[in-house]
Amino acid sequence: MALLEIKNLHVALEDGTEIVKGVDLTVDTNQVHAVMGPNGSGKSTLAYALMGHPAYVITEGEILIDGDNVTESGADARAHRGLFLAFQYPHAVPGVTVTSFLRSAINATRKARAGGKEDPVPIPEFRKELLAQMDRLKVSRELASRYLNEGFSGGEKKRVEILQMAMLKPRIAVLDETDSGLDIDALRIVAEGVQNLIGPEMGALVITHYQRILNFLTPDFVHVFVGGRIVEEGGPELAQKLEREGYEAFTPAEVVEA
Ligand SMILES: Nc1ncnc2c1ncn2[C@@H]1O[C@H](COP(=O)(O)OP(=O)(O)OP(=O)(O)O)[C@@H](O)[C@H]1O
Ligand SMILES: [Mg+2]
Repeated sequence: MALLEIKNLHVALEDGTEIVKGVDLTVDTNQVHAVMGPNGSGKSTLAYALMGHPAYVITEGEILIDGDNVTESGADARAHRGLFLAFQYPHAVPGVTVTSFLRSAINATRKARAGGKEDPVPIPEFRKELLAQMDRLKVSRELASRYLNEGFSGGEKKRVEILQMAMLKPRIAVLDETDSGLDIDALRIVAEGVQNLIGPEMGALVITHYQRILNFLTPDFVHVFVGGRIVEEGGPELAQKLEREGYEAFTPAEVVEA
């Protein structure tokens, strides 16, 4: 039984426009899947639908985690099952510091895992883990005491997303263009930070436009995503081919003619 199974998933906007048009994808622990596709093809929509965002309506198909159908579950329930989404555009949370946000998120997950009973992480344990992960991901101490994402640079937001991931220890990490806006050093730190978490405990679905993040985060599978569908699948060599040739060969004829 696979960790995450996406079966014939169709996703529409609230006005009924269908964006994701039948996706089949299976992600297991110890695997990195890369999803690459042109702007507007529906990659973020797929990520939001996986996470249970209420603005994205699943009209057909299903999502299974460990064989359990979570298609109708809320975002919280999916997060507690170990699903994590690093957003393309992380939101600011004024009045909540990075540290307190992380502690609340961890405690919510611990509570769910303890069957609804409060089970807060001991503060010394939390602090030790937080400092270790911040050092690993080169996140400054100053950043952790600021309000989440408020006034953060693009790169700082992305790094804090990965810090969140490292602290929450999800089982399936969905990264939506985590590489965009990162300088070269940050890209390597972030990508290696994710790579280090890949193993028997975690698998990842990495949405990206560029092959460069895949130099540090080796994909086992590459999926080409065009017009709401996976149109081609292969190994890491497919990412290199896309970098050289673009998506033209995969673009539906009617779009090329338009
Ligand atoms: N909330 C929304 N309201 C209106 N249109 C939306 C909404 N969400 C997505 N769309 C539309 O759905 C299409 C797919 O968008 P999506 O963000 O999923 O693309 P993407 O593949 O992630 O693109 P990019 O590579 O630019 O991030 C786009 O045409 C977008 O305008
Ligand atoms: Mg997107």
